[in-house]
Amino acid sequence: MLRLGSVNYEVRGKIAVLTLDEPDKLNALTAGIRAGILEGLKRADQDDGVRVTVITGAGGKAFCAGADIGNFDFKPEKARAFFINAMDVLAAPERALKPVIAAVNGIAYGGGFELAIACDFIIAAERARFAVPEIKLGILPGFAIVRLGDIVGRAKAKEMSMLGEPVSADEACRLGIASRAVPDDRLLPEALAFAERVAAQPRLAVQMAKSFYNRGLGGDEMRHAIDGFPFLLTHADAREGINAFSEKRKPRFGDN
Ligand code: COA
Repeated sequence: MLRLGSVNYEVRGKIAVLTLDEPDKLNALTAGIRAGILEGLKRADQDDGVRVTVITGAGGKAFCAGADIGNFDFKPEKARAFFINAMDVLAAPERALKPVIAAVNGIAYGGGFELAIACDFIIAAERARFAVPEIKLGILPGFAIVRLGDIVGRAKAKEMSMLGEPVSADEACRLGIASRAVPDDRLLPEALAFAERVAAQPRLAVQMAKSFYNRGLGGDEMRHAIDGFPFLLTHADAREGINAFSEKRKPRFGDN
């Protein structure tokens, strides 16, 4: 096993398994996790023995709780640089040549949810919960704003983005977010078994299927989100929401 940033990288037969491993922070997208995701996916693509990648989270409770809230920088230039990097990381599973499966073992919130929907398939443990709770911090989920409507429909995407409430693994299946929900202790075996089935198919046709279905992703819409997000982060509500989370109190937003 290799340690790439804060991500463990292990090859099991034809499957690369990336385990996000900062459970004390609920595997939030720290610099170490972000670097590990990029490096791990690159390695898997470059390793001829690997056919499929599985991404999961360490520690049982969380797949990934999203952006590292304690490290937000409110200066516009910093916010923009941060967001460009975050969008690059979140879109990495879409860009990967080989199929990527998210084995969602627990909380997949914010950027964690976005990372999961950027994967080709989501297999969810029954305890998994999916949400874009950024609204509670006074901000928005840039990547989900671009992608979620296509998955769950525009109204449901708005509901999830405006209320920030979690959906269960079963509801995620009904909404088309996850392919299947499995018992918690069966998650990795089921994800690996599914990965093996994909890995048994002809490699080039599989990669081309991914490429064809992902056509058009990552274009102007993404740039629009990149330009819009830093503005939101400079609003007083964002500062209040983010500070309130760090101080473990309820936020007091401007007009409330
Ligand atoms: N970034 C950084 N740290 C995070 C984090 C994040 N996104 N999410 C959780 N953590 C940290 C908490 O600060 C806490 O650290 P502490 O033990 O040093 O206080 C630890 O992880 C455990 O989280 P906690 O909130 O105590 O667990 P919980 O079970 O009460 O709640 C959540 C779990 C996921 C509901 C809650 O942590 C949460 O709302 N997180 C933020 C999710 C979010 O808004 N993501 C989008 C960010 S843009």
